[in-house]
Amino acid sequence: MAQITIALAKGRLAEQAFELLEGMGIDCSQPKNPGRRLVLMDDANNIRFILVKPSDVPTYVDQGVADLGVVGKDTLLEENRSLYEVLDLGFGKCKLCIAGYRDGGKNPVTQANYRVATKYPNIARNYYHAQGKTIEIIKLNGSVELGPLIGLSDVILDIVESGSTLRANGLAVLEDVCDVSARLVVNRVALKTKRDRIRWIIDGMENQLKAVE
Ligand code: PRP
Repeated sequence: MAQITIALAKGRLAEQAFELLEGMGIDCSQPKNPGRRLVLMDDANNIRFILVKPSDVPTYVDQGVADLGVVGKDTLLEENRSLYEVLDLGFGKCKLCIAGYRDGGKNPVTQANYRVATKYPNIARNYYHAQGKTIEIIKLNGSVELGPLIGLSDVILDIVESGSTLRANGLAVLEDVCDVSARLVVNRVALKTKRDRIRWIIDGMENQLKAVE
């Protein structure tokens, strides 16, 4: 039985993926309680799990060291790897939005360029490029909402889930960019070389999703 490696984005997405995988009979007890271990096993099914930073999931799958991955659509768009996106897992739902002050802000921006603070520079570049707009991208790694608050940027491009972070900081959604949810992705070569085992996982997860609908 060929070994299958699944790369999971650490955190909430992984926890919800475990529910689907357990529902189809895969033992997730090790990855659910990893401690400091990074490689976790279901020996009976010869499945290896790796828990990695969300933005690294596409890299592991693209390089072929993971056969499958569970990761948000936002990360897939940003990383733009050549992967098969085989299933919308339906959880981890949120939106990518442009947000800022509804009235443009109290302190008028004097910089020549329109400045967009974001964890997603590629998505921001593509979004504004498609509209023929030139912008300056300010790459941040978190607390992106600070951008407009302290005059670092005019707007942000970021994930909005409940909207409470924006509201708590007096900001609002100005434009929707796209919907986001968790996706199952597959390495292109593995889909051919380990076809039956990968098909089993895709079909199993899909059936679990249908069962909870
Ligand atoms: C994300 C995102 C927003 C917030 C949106 O940040 O970047 O800041 O969640 O969620 P909400 O609409 O429900 O308030 P995260 O919690 O990942 O932390 P970070 O700012 O450090 O990236």
